Amino acid sequence: MPLATPPFSVLSDEFDAAPHHFYAQLRERAPVHYEPAIDSWFVSRHEDVKRVLTDHDAFTTEMFQVRAEPVMRGRVLAQMTGAEHTAKRKIVVRGFTGAALQAQVRAIRTNAAELLATFLPRGRMDLVGDFGKPFAVHVALDALGLDRADWQQVAEWHSGVAEFVTSLTLTPERRRHCLDCAEQLEAYLAPVIERRRRDPGEDLISELCTAEFDGVAMSDRDVTALILNVLIAAAEPADKTLALLFRHLIDHPEQLAQVRRDPDLLGAAIAETLRFTPPVQLIPRQAEEDTVLAGTTVPAGAAVFCMIGAANRDPEAFTAPDTFDIHRADLGTARSFTAAAQHLAFGTGLHQCVGAAFARAEIETVAAMLLPLLDEVRYSPGFRYRETGLYTRGPVALSLDFTPVHGTGTWRD
Ligand code: HEM
Repeated sequence: MPLATPPFSVLSDEFDAAPHHFYAQLRERAPVHYEPAIDSWFVSRHEDVKRVLTDHDAFTTEMFQVRAEPVMRGRVLAQMTGAEHTAKRKIVVRGFTGAALQAQVRAIRTNAAELLATFLPRGRMDLVGDFGKPFAVHVALDALGLDRADWQQVAEWHSGVAEFVTSLTLTPERRRHCLDCAEQLEAYLAPVIERRRRDPGEDLISELCTAEFDGVAMSDRDVTALILNVLIAAAEPADKTLALLFRHLIDHPEQLAQVRRDPDLLGAAIAETLRFTPPVQLIPRQAEEDTVLAGTTVPAGAAVFCMIGAANRDPEAFTAPDTFDIHRADLGTARSFTAAAQHLAFGTGLHQCVGAAFARAEIETVAAMLLPLLDEVRYSPGFRYRETGLYTRGPVALSLDFTPVHGTGTWRD
């Protein structure tokens, strides 16, 4: 498919249907592609994406003031720099690593077991709709210390907020809907914050309510924004990664058999899934000054989108990049979830994902529960695979058939 006939657009249906078909041409022929309809630049080479995400003076996170703040009800971590960013990021990191992480892994197992109990005996489930989406929201609510019983309502508001943050174009009606969702979510959180201030527990919301920055406690607005920041950041990519992992393993039966035999390979399978099909496809930045990237001048003030999917398949960064291979030597499982990662699925630089270790634990835990049970796992008859999303991207559904499973009581031990 030639890039130039008719003028190529990342907003076209063709690109939406299969973005990876265009990555090589973009990197080779239009590595800094201008999209007039939304007055934005799209950067696709690994080297350039890395530069945009690590040159914090030339490329800022200014645009989150309009892309995120209206629905986050305040400033999110991505907007912060310096001592404020370090201090507030540390609080969030503490909630998702060390002892907190150990406790959360237990909660992850319980959540997964409860949700799976309905579907395993049936021998059929949609890994996205039946399991992944509710599971990702349950886990995020648990980590924050919110009531899991409210998950459906929270999930609805959450999807409105996420739509606002991840849309490249939004009609006035959708914009209003997203803002309504954010206002309702804020109203839902207000009494929770008030209670945690009076009677703090061990959860992340309590930590945020009692922490001080520069000797001053965070305002309700600050706390609300960070809760929404974590809720959206944690839930949005998790179910997509899980479904993509199963998709790739089912499409590569030898690798599926290897992972079933040796669950220690799961970390590598998750890392390769994130490289091959990163669920967060775009990371936005704003050019602070006129900057030359791959020979093109990006003007001061311009919106720049880093194309993570294209960068992760750059042959300058990975050998045979279009091949899904959990054994690839140039990935490195352990470093794939750290600041030293070669793939860019978690971003890089100052704002690299704080939840990478947690995401690995979450997906590894669930996949390790599921894989040994799903004998003869395959797509359900008539199922047609389809992905959606330009900014975050994942399967619409993943309808699986497998040998029905009875009696998994040991999970709750
Ligand atoms: C596979 C799952 C995940 C993926 C692919 C992912 C991806 C990303 C990416 C690409 C960024 C960088 C955004 C930027 O530079 O503007 C990011 C930031 C962030 N992520 Fe994740 N994420 C995942 C899971 C999580 C989880 C489970 C949490 C829960 C704690 C989380 C919390 C955050 C936060 C708070 C930030 C902002 C960090 C900052 O600005 O300093 N993420 N994530």
